[in-house]
Amino acid sequence: MAERVEIFEVGPRDGLQNEARAIPVAEKIALVDCLSRAGFARIECASFVSPKWVPQMAGSAEVLAGITRAPGVRYTALTPNMRGFEDAVAAGADEVAVFGSASEGFSRANINASIAESLERFRPVVEAARAAELPVRGYVSCVTHCPYDGPVAPGAVAEVAVALFEMGCIEISLGETLGRATPEEVAPMLRAVLHEIPSDHVAGHFHDTEGRALDNIDVALEQGLRIFDAAVGGLGGCPYAPGAKGNVATEAVRDRVEARGFATGLDAAVLAEAAAMARQMRQGETA
Ligand code: HMG
Ligand code: MG
Repeated sequence: MAERVEIFEVGPRDGLQNEARAIPVAEKIALVDCLSRAGFARIECASFVSPKWVPQMAGSAEVLAGITRAPGVRYTALTPNMRGFEDAVAAGADEVAVFGSASEGFSRANINASIAESLERFRPVVEAARAAELPVRGYVSCVTHCPYDGPVAPGAVAEVAVALFEMGCIEISLGETLGRATPEEVAPMLRAVLHEIPSDHVAGHFHDTEGRALDNIDVALEQGLRIFDAAVGGLGGCPYAPGAKGNVATEAVRDRVEARGFATGLDAAVLAEAAAMARQMRQGETA
């Protein structure tokens, strides 16, 4: 039987958070409901952050309340602090995520805290999630390049990843936020992290600005990663990473890893439907 690769769908969160048009909650719900038929184990569809910082995610509680939950699918949310965590629990998130950075510049710009301060802010969130028996994921952004500080050393990534893992995050998602890395840059970063954390607790999160995300996924597959974040239709970007384009497209990752002999359990026809919906949302055609 083919070995499994999980694609963790982040389109309704990482994909949509950067869209300039205020996307109606009903459209977000329709996208998540379509994705729920595709075969994902997890769909990130909410973000309990300050609406002043990311206005697009303001309707996250309504999204979680309005979706039709498919059995076996976990609907996940970003939770930068205790306020976000409490709101996510009240809204019925099945899994939460804290998000830090391997670079000081991005940490400041994205969450208004130094790396050290952010880790102290995450600690009670991770503790509360574990007490509530909710899985908690830890993102590390800017794993190769930072829009403010330039190149990022592999050791700096490993340090933050280990801090989040030791704190109790079940999975560390390594964010190549800018989508500029080459496979030659990704490989040593992964080696540094995998020296410290078992590969089944590590996910790859690649943006595709330079069109190299699939090659970087190949490198990660070779190093043992079996979980990849992706956004249907290649939606995405980060409001605090100027110039970063979309996440790698879910349908492209599915095709690539299946061509490599892995099973994703994802239905290509449903993904195509969701990708078309995502593209329309980006263009505002359904508004
Ligand atoms: P702050 O200004 O330092 O926080 O922001 P604060 O505690 O001083 O609060 C400021 C205001 O926000 C207050 O309201 C709070 O009540 C409110 P005011 O008194 O001014 O009216 N507030 C909140 N409101 C709703 N939900 C909350 C919350 N917390 C405070 N949870 C904070 C700190 C972290 C809140 C802010 O910086 C923030 O929300 N940042 C989020 C930025 C973000 O969402 N970025 C995108 C996600 S990360 C990403 O995309 C990368 C990733 O995909 C991986 C990759 O690609 O690398 C994950
Ligand atoms: Mg991202």
